[in-house]
Amino acid sequence: HGRLGHGGPRESRVERRLACRLMGNAWGQAPVVTAHLSLPCPGMWGLVNNAGISTFGEVEFTSMETYKEVAEVNLWGTVRTTKSFLPLIRRAKGRVVNISSMLGRMANPARSPYCITKFGVEAFSDCLRYEMHSLGVKVSVVEPGNFIAATSLYSPESIQAIAKKMWDELPEVVRKDYGKKYFDEKIAKMETYCSSGSTDTSPVIDAVTHALTATTPYTRYHPMDYYWWLRMQIITHLPGAISDMIYIR
Ligand SMILES: NC(=O)c1ccc[n+]([C@@H]2O[C@H](COP(=O)([O-])OP(=O)(O)OC[C@H]3O[C@@H](n4cnc5c(N)ncnc54)[C@H](OP(=O)(O)O)[C@@H]3O)[C@@H](O)[C@H]2O)c1
Repeated sequence: HGRLGHGGPRESRVERRLACRLMGNAWGQAPVVTAHLSLPCPGMWGLVNNAGISTFGEVEFTSMETYKEVAEVNLWGTVRTTKSFLPLIRRAKGRVVNISSMLGRMANPARSPYCITKFGVEAFSDCLRYEMHSLGVKVSVVEPGNFIAATSLYSPESIQAIAKKMWDELPEVVRKDYGKKYFDEKIAKMETYCSSGSTDTSPVIDAVTHALTATTPYTRYHPMDYYWWLRMQIITHLPGAISDMIYIR
């Protein structure tokens, strides 16, 4: 799924998801796949967990429903889908490739609903990699940088819609303490983010291809520009006090 993933014609993706829903489980792809395989099934080589949604908003502006909604797709979707396919992948000594994000390694303000799910995907992938090692299954994580401009994760329209809903549903105390001006400034900042990032997603596709086909796939792939790569190295390798001094403004 998705522009960072393998895409495919819209009709067939809709069909696939419809089929899954007909199974009474939006993530029950394994029964759909096995139904089309001749038995005894030799297994399945690769699973790419790419489906993801995103949102933004400071912690005090974000409802619990929003936190749960994003986690349902990004984190629980990854866990559920992996568990469904694992018996097939284990038989083939195949591959699991989880699409995380640079925001699965380092946090950013106003992105907590997304970051916590991607940190979860990273932890899940690490546990799975340890567990699967002796069984011959290889698990890789792809951590794309900023490709917002190339994908439909955000658009100015979706940002405005999210912002309106968020403001309307804010508790009175939060609205009063922060004020509309502060809120609008944050939304405007998010809007500029929409058109940022790389429009060439081929490094992500190359990473996924390598993870699926190379004899020795990497544990982590970092398709991102130099600025974000350096920032990630600083945040993950230096003491928090130092990276805070550089990045908290
Ligand atoms: N864009 C970036 O800058 C960026 C950076 C780092 C990581 N990522 C990650 O890359 C992955 C792909 O995102 P993208 O940027 O390509 O965004 P996208 O263009 O919006 O694609 C997201 C994909 O997820 C699918 N999806 C969403 N909710 C789903 C659900 N409930 N069930 C099944 N499929 C669902 C969508 O399917 P439909 O099209 O059928 O709705 C779509 O194909 C995500 O995991 C995202 O977090 C993106």
